[in-house]
Amino acid sequence: MSSSVKFRGVSFAYSKGHQVLKDLTFQVRAGQVLAVVGQNGSGKSTIAGLIAGLIKLPKNSGELNIVGRSAIVFQNPDVQVLFDNVEDDIKFVLDNYKVEKSEHARRITDALSLVKMLEFQHSNPLKFSLGQKQRIAIASILALDPEVIIFDEATSSLDSAGKRDVLEIVEALKDKGKTVIMVTNVVDELRIADSVLLLQNGAGTQFDGPSAGAAGVRLTIDALNAAGFALSDFFKLKDYALKGNETARGALELLEQEPTLGKVG
Ligand SMILES: Nc1ncnc2c1ncn2[C@@H]1O[C@H](COP(=O)(O)OP(=O)(O)OP(=O)(O)O)[C@@H](O)[C@H]1O
Ligand SMILES: [Mg+2]
Repeated sequence: MSSSVKFRGVSFAYSKGHQVLKDLTFQVRAGQVLAVVGQNGSGKSTIAGLIAGLIKLPKNSGELNIVGRSAIVFQNPDVQVLFDNVEDDIKFVLDNYKVEKSEHARRITDALSLVKMLEFQHSNPLKFSLGQKQRIAIASILALDPEVIIFDEATSSLDSAGKRDVLEIVEALKDKGKTVIMVTNVVDELRIADSVLLLQNGAGTQFDGPSAGAAGVRLTIDALNAAGFALSDFFKLKDYALKGNETARGALELLEQEPTLGKVG
């Protein structure tokens, strides 16, 4: 499969003297899910912004290649819900991107179906829960039919049901062959990743694996801590391990090697 997102030797600074990305190289194949993890300020949103085209890469700063259109979902769905009617919210986005009117109805139906909100097409999203608002925000973006979808901590303001709904959407997108970049600090979310990019000091290490949420656990314990995961998250992995999930199995192996970890958090 061909690569969909490719960074080669990318360096980036917002201002002189503070290099956010240093010679960063990684790639995501079409139809795969990449999780991006790293401490606060490590450059996750910068990468998301570069992929979404919100941040321009200056000349001589390395190579950045995105195949097809990309679109981004942010942490706070409130900023993306503007009208008192779901359909109007999506139409607003379609109009902004100059999608032909004759296409609108089909795209709105398809996008709302994918996020399981079709029955709310004419409802007032301002009255929705945060999780429902986020699904509408995601639908607005999916209506543009992007090849690459970036979620920048898009579940972090949601309750557990809301988080689960978003993960289901990511899995559905993957099934449709879309490429997903998922910035996250929720260990559960690594389980649906095909590979994980760990950012540290401006550089990235990419972990791939057959079901490579497994990547997450190949990170050292220190790296996981540095990436901002709560150690208590490991307990949740027991459930997944029982269900045969590789990520979880690896995490539990780490716990066995370092039993003191289980006492923290
Ligand atoms: N618009 C900006 N102007 C100047 N500096 C910025 C800007 N945006 C981010 N930075 C700085 O660049 C670095 C990387 O920020 P970025 O937002 O990419 O990190 P992050 O990993 O997404 O962090 P968080 O976990 O807090 O979301 C930080 O030091 C941040 O302060
Ligand atoms: Mg960020």
